[in-house]
Amino acid sequence: MTNPATILAQSGRPDRIQGSPVNPPIVLSSTYRNSGTEPGNIYARWDTETWNPFEETLAALEGSAFPALVHSSGMAAITTALHAAPPGKIVAPRHAYHASLVVAREMAEREGGQVVTVDIADTDEVVAALPGASAVLIESPTNPMLELADIPTIAAAAHDAGALVIVDNTFATPLGQQPLAMGADIVVHSATKYLAGHSDVILGAVLAATEDLHTRMWNYRTHTGAVAGPMETWLALRGMRTLSLRFERITANAAELAKRLSDHPLVEAVAHPSLPSHPHRERAPKGCGVVTLRPKGGREAADRLVEATRLWLPATSLGGVESSLERRRRFVDEASTVPEDLLRLSCGIEDIEDLWEDLDQALRHAVTGLQ
Ligand SMILES: Cc1ncc(COP(=O)(O)O)c(C=O)c1O
Repeated sequence: MTNPATILAQSGRPDRIQGSPVNPPIVLSSTYRNSGTEPGNIYARWDTETWNPFEETLAALEGSAFPALVHSSGMAAITTALHAAPPGKIVAPRHAYHASLVVAREMAEREGGQVVTVDIADTDEVVAALPGASAVLIESPTNPMLELADIPTIAAAAHDAGALVIVDNTFATPLGQQPLAMGADIVVHSATKYLAGHSDVILGAVLAATEDLHTRMWNYRTHTGAVAGPMETWLALRGMRTLSLRFERITANAAELAKRLSDHPLVEAVAHPSLPSHPHRERAPKGCGVVTLRPKGGREAADRLVEATRLWLPATSLGGVESSLERRRRFVDEASTVPEDLLRLSCGIEDIEDLWEDLDQALRHAVTGLQ
């Protein structure tokens, strides 16, 4: 099984024996009968059978030789990944997910290191920042600016400089790109988004390129205890079964909306990796469900637009089947280089004409005051 759609539908199921269930069971047990004389599960903070189907399926999708390590959230996964690097300088995109930068800065500063932020699309700038770094964190596309990195070139330069390469693959999903094959040492996911896909769980995962990194991250997860609940993990795998269908539809909706928005007279700027105006289209993953939009009329118009939608949900997060949008600078931690009027649109699986009609009426209401 190597085709993603087949892996998603088939992987992580119980053995094909007469009478076995189609889905893995949810085991609610914190501890296991274990007298210490035989191998087997001991304690559910270490390992539990409800994690395994999710972890094996994600590993198969990312092309990892080692199971993914499920975590209680994407942020718990990022914390584990950053701790796998020795203390020191961390190079990161200036437009990475803002909480990832907060955690990286807190960690680096406590350990006497620092975070150097760069334009991750500017490979020369990234490479110039690498000497002396212990890790480079990559998002491609970045959240929320949708910049695209040259992952293989940065990974090779990072390895020459002795730095660990961590790729947050939340936006692209393993269907869009497989960072391990591009040179990453660690891949991180907020499974909360596209993987689980229904806005009903908070979950994360890391994957490693080597056994040593896998073991170090397994130890960190086990000892710090940022472990996932069995129900959430089961729900995430259930949601993931339809990822290929959802991501295809979401990407098609996003690309079509980006195209139409580019021609809209009330729109100042639009970004999506599929647009001819994107400066690094050739680095785009095979799919992206996020579009950014700056309406004419600045921040006030952007706020009015969010309020004026009837179908698009005003909400943070992304990757659900329902379309949502928000103005990113409403968060104090968002980078000051993200425009005040930038709206991040998370496209869902709804009918394209319904999505377009609602955006168009909200734009007219927000920018011109027309209903
Ligand atoms: C790119 C990216 N990485 C990580 C996270 C954090 O994930 P979680 O909310 O599951 O902790 C987010 C959340 O928005 C994100 O967008």
